[in-house]
Amino acid sequence: MKFPHDFLFGAASASYQVEGAWNEDGKGISNWDVFSKIPGKTYKNTNGDISVDHYHRYKEDIKLMSEIGLESYRFSISWPRIIPDGDGQVNEKGLDFYNNLIDECLKYGIVPFVTLYHWDLPQTLEECGGWTNKRTVDAFVKYANVCFNAFGDRVKHWITFNETIVFTSLGYLAGAHPPGIKNDIKKYFQATHNVFTAHARAVKDYKALRQFGEIGITHVFSPAFSADEKEENKLAAYHANQYSLAWYYDPVLKGEYPDYVVKQLEEKGWTPDWTEEELSIIKTSAASNDFIGLNYYQPQRVIKNNNSDEVIERTRENSTGAPGNASFDGVYRTVKMEDKVYTKWGWEISPEAFFEGLKMLKAHYGDIKIYITENGLGDEDPIIEGEIVDVPRIKYIETHLKAVKNAIAEGINIKGYYAWSAIDLLSWLNGYKKQYGFIYVDHNNNLNRKIKLSGYWYKKIIKERGENL
Ligand code: BG6
Repeated sequence: MKFPHDFLFGAASASYQVEGAWNEDGKGISNWDVFSKIPGKTYKNTNGDISVDHYHRYKEDIKLMSEIGLESYRFSISWPRIIPDGDGQVNEKGLDFYNNLIDECLKYGIVPFVTLYHWDLPQTLEECGGWTNKRTVDAFVKYANVCFNAFGDRVKHWITFNETIVFTSLGYLAGAHPPGIKNDIKKYFQATHNVFTAHARAVKDYKALRQFGEIGITHVFSPAFSADEKEENKLAAYHANQYSLAWYYDPVLKGEYPDYVVKQLEEKGWTPDWTEEELSIIKTSAASNDFIGLNYYQPQRVIKNNNSDEVIERTRENSTGAPGNASFDGVYRTVKMEDKVYTKWGWEISPEAFFEGLKMLKAHYGDIKIYITENGLGDEDPIIEGEIVDVPRIKYIETHLKAVKNAIAEGINIKGYYAWSAIDLLSWLNGYKKQYGFIYVDHNNNLNRKIKLSGYWYKKIIKERGENL
């Protein structure tokens, strides 16, 4: 089987992780510009001031992407580049940059797939309470409209938010992302609700513009499985799926929050401050949401947490995805398992769980349209005689693409696959050590670029439309 002719083979990036030029051409300061400069917050205090300088080298980068044969490039827009103080004046030079980037993609026939929010919030809004303040919701809707109007003639695929669970839980529970707040459960749920409201309003506005493109949201896809057959662990996995999946997917796909979580939030006093109007806009906009983007890296293997009184100190390492933590409410715990395979950073590698999870999603939500908006291997790539021989990445993407192929054969409506990442970039908390790209960037030599073995391999897969996978 070949992948369908309208299936997009792509790769992805995010503004803060690639652009650099943090204070050029009128860009405002983002929360990450500030947070990454607090000593000890990031790996070796790395920050995105220069990153891989995509802002100045985008032409070279898009050319390399076209050499790989990418059909689509998923990138994000830096909000503070467009509206430096969050909700004030528009910065024309910011619009120019993305107009040029979009045009450069189109010049090579690469479909731009645009994320509006991949975590770099204008600092002025962060200082007013960030995503816990409803002013940020209004500001986002305004910013989204500026982007639809400026780029919507050429951009026909929009993602409102990237991974709400990550920036809200690391921001308000683990304190590992801005605003660096720990264990504030009430704020965490408030931030999630505000994001869903912002998403719903942006979807409505986009549809009203009649630009005839599609709009959706990207979520982490980390389905929870019980570590064994014990009833208490199965219940723990159910709980994990309610809180980390249904809480995020239901409002977007069904237009309402899952009862199971809503009831518990009421009991515990964690219910967000929400209005009838907000709940109604979430309800009515769900039907207009075109797709769901899934970022899949690993599943969760879950057991019941038996020491619910234990205070969990999340370190930078274990808060960024490796199993071993108890959930914020102390109900379950993710575990590392003897019989599973893990990356150097402790993330499980499981194309099988990917496939199982996709079937679970279909069983729960029906025939939704899906894009795999991120999937990839974080690794330290070997260089042999000047070539970047990233064989483990090829293996990783190959097995996960096979899972996608099998899922399509099962009738699951997947319309595209975006490897993370198009080019080596700044990992939020792991610096440049953890590489993901098809394109290598030499940090010891002028940020020179070179296509890796995985890039050439992907080129072949795209050319054959995955027939030999
Ligand atoms: C996703 C994000 O969570 O995972 C990306 O959307 C991120 O921005 C990627 O880079 C990999 O995470 P990490 O921590 O390995 O860089």
